[in-house]
Order: sequence, then C-alpha cells, then structure tokens
Amino acid sequence: MATSPGFGRLVPPERQTKTVPPSGLRELLPQVLRPEILSFALGLPATELFPLAECRDAAVRALADPKTLQYNVPSAALKRHIQTLMASRGVACSTEQIFLTAGAQQAIHLLVHLLLSYGRQVLVEELTYEGLHLALQSLEPEILTVPTTPTDGIDLDAVEERLRGGARSAFLYTVPDGHNPLGVSLRPEDRIRLVELARRFHLPVIEDDVYGFLGYDGAACPPLCALDQEWVYYIGSFSKIFAPSLRVGWIVAPASCSTALSHLKHAGDLDISTFSQLTALSYLDSGHLAGHLASLRTEYDRRRRAMLVALEAHFPPVARWHAPSCGMFIWVELPPEIDTCELLRFAIHSEQVAFMPGPIFAIPGQACSRNGIRLNFTHWPPDRMEEGIARLADCLRRFCDPALNQKLRVH
Ligand SMILES: Cc1ncc(COP(=O)(O)O)c(C=O)c1O
Repeated sequence: MATSPGFGRLVPPERQTKTVPPSGLRELLPQVLRPEILSFALGLPATELFPLAECRDAAVRALADPKTLQYNVPSAALKRHIQTLMASRGVACSTEQIFLTAGAQQAIHLLVHLLLSYGRQVLVEELTYEGLHLALQSLEPEILTVPTTPTDGIDLDAVEERLRGGARSAFLYTVPDGHNPLGVSLRPEDRIRLVELARRFHLPVIEDDVYGFLGYDGAACPPLCALDQEWVYYIGSFSKIFAPSLRVGWIVAPASCSTALSHLKHAGDLDISTFSQLTALSYLDSGHLAGHLASLRTEYDRRRRAMLVALEAHFPPVARWHAPSCGMFIWVELPPEIDTCELLRFAIHSEQVAFMPGPIFAIPGQACSRNGIRLNFTHWPPDRMEEGIARLADCLRRFCDPALNQKLRVH
C-alpha cells in the first residue's frame, strides 16, 4: 500500500480510541426507553406539562430576527433573568458570575475540568448522579467516597474525617436539594457546617441544584451558594423547570473563572446555541415562568403524594422509603438479599415496568448496596403511576418467591 510521508505508521482507529468500560446497566437503558415500558427510571419532566404554546410563541418571536440562527456570544439579558431567578433562591450574585452552559451536565463537565487536574483526588458521595461519573472518567482521579443517607443527606462527619486525615480533594460534588438518587435535602444547619468545612479546608464544593426550584413542603432552603460564593460553584438548569431539549443551564462561580470556563467550553462546542438562548430569553421576557413553576410544583406535589400512597398500598412491609421534600425521586430500600439489577431485568420482561437500580449510582468498581431503587414520580399522571407501582410490587413479590423465582427470572 502506498503511503505518503508522515502517514506510513498510522495506527488503526480502533487502537487510538479510548475504551469505555462495559456496563450491563447502560445496555439495559434502551429497553427502559421502549414506549411500551411504564418506566420510572429516568428523571423526566411530565411531557404534557411543557408550556408548549408559550414556548412556540417564544421561538417564533426569537426567529423574527435572522441573527437568532447566527453564532453569537452568551446573552446578557438571559443572564439578568437568571440573576433574578437566583435571587428567588436567596442568592445575590452579579451577572459577571453567571456562565451559560448547554445544560447542567455540561456545567458539571466544565467545572470538573476547571478544578481537577489529571489523577488528583475528588470527594464524592457513595451514591451520586451518574453523570458525574461520566465527567470524571477521562481524568482518572482517585475517588474518595463519603456516605449519604436518605434521611440525613451527606455524612459531614465522614467529610470532616477525610479532610482531617489529609485528603487533598480537588472538590466535593453534591446535590443538596432533592438529591439524585436519594431524594433527600440537606438540613439548614448542615449547609452551614458544609460551607464552614469548605472554608476551613479550602475545599471547592460543586453544588448541583437542578432540583432546587422544585420544593414541595413550603419554602425550599437557600442553596449553599447563598452562604458562600468563594468556595461554592453552583449549577442550575432550565431542564427540569422549563424544557430539557433547549439545553440551557448555568454556573454561578467567582467572576475570575469565566475566562477559563470560556476556553474549556469553546474547546467542546464553541457557544451555547443562540436559538436556545433567545427562545429561553423570549419565554422569560413574557413573564410565564413564575406561573409555570407554581403549577409544576402543585402537580408534581400531587404526583409525589400519589406515589407515596401507591407504595404504601402495594409494596411489601419490608420495603422502606422516605417522602422527599424536593425534586423528582423516591428512593426505596428493599431487603439486602435483592439484586435490583436482576429485578430490573425481570420487571422489564415480565411486567413491562422499569426503575433505576441502585448500583448505577455507585462509583464504578466500588462496592455498594445493591438493594435500593430510584423511582421518578414526576413523569406519569397518578392513575398510570398507581398501575405501574402495583405491577412493580407484583414483580417484587414473584421475584422474591423462592418457588417461582427460578422459573420466572429472565436473563
Ligand atoms: C443531579 C443532576 N445533575 C444534572 C443533570 C443534567 O441536567 P441537564 O439536562 O440540565 O443537563 C441531571 C439530569 O437528570 C441531574 O439529575
């Protein structure tokens, strides 16, 4: 084969690319998404509650200007709306501190790459949002874990112990409101303690607040970012409160980080989509978000209660859960001998229902309790939810019945 100078020793592409560790669970995800599956697995907003007409009007208004389809810089006007939204969460920040991103997932990716250099340590909860694992993967950090419980949230004694023991963590990542997957929200006194630890040990904290606007039991607690803006790097998003497909989120960080964040973002996708920004801006200008948020909270609260009632009615007494005060998820603990990955396979095949099994939220390769499941309560209306929970409870009973067990398990 003829080779031109410099190209003679090309390595076949399959040997140049990084390998992604196989995950049996990720292979299950396409099944979870099949339309015939009544799925509680993903953090999906209710499709029928999207403000479709208002969003269409906003897009039409944005498209009146052809520059909406052009490259553009981040919108200062959109940042001003975000500043007002942050004030409604009790956070006073300047627009210079606000950095626009393509959703919270990109914000996580950018902050991880801003704060962490290759191979350093990070502090992470034993069970945490799986998107963090993906963002960490290529930097191969040493991962130090701390426990989080569905009743009390992150174990701050364990955090302090790690820090006193000499951990030199590039950051701690946490979801203080409507924790994913555990549903728990951090108590006000623990927020103060966490921020004090961050200051004392010079520990940056990445606060992922995608669920903080969805509080149900009275006024939600202000985020960590309301207590500190030197060590706390805040992440917000319109995905759960407006429309995830627009891919608009934001970071609140010290203004001095914005150049570095811009460089990191440009390397990935240049700038946030002008169309998305200006559609979001036009929607926010129309003043509809406050009313939409209020009706989302009311309806999601109704669905949260409906799921709690359905769990009480159908699940066996050995199952344990706690009512979340915020967010989209209820975490259910099943007896320790239950392998929830196996249960998921069984549930999909036998009853066409799905949930997220606990191990997907554990640091890959680390031991974790396999007996927890995460249920989303926002996507289905109460009647479908009750039907799904009843089917899931039925699966659970049959899965646990030793006589039926061998016959019914699907591999
Ligand atoms: C805790 C958490 N962070 C970030 C994200 C990603 O959100 P976005 O759609 O804004 O990228 C999710 C999505 O479910 C999430 O649960």
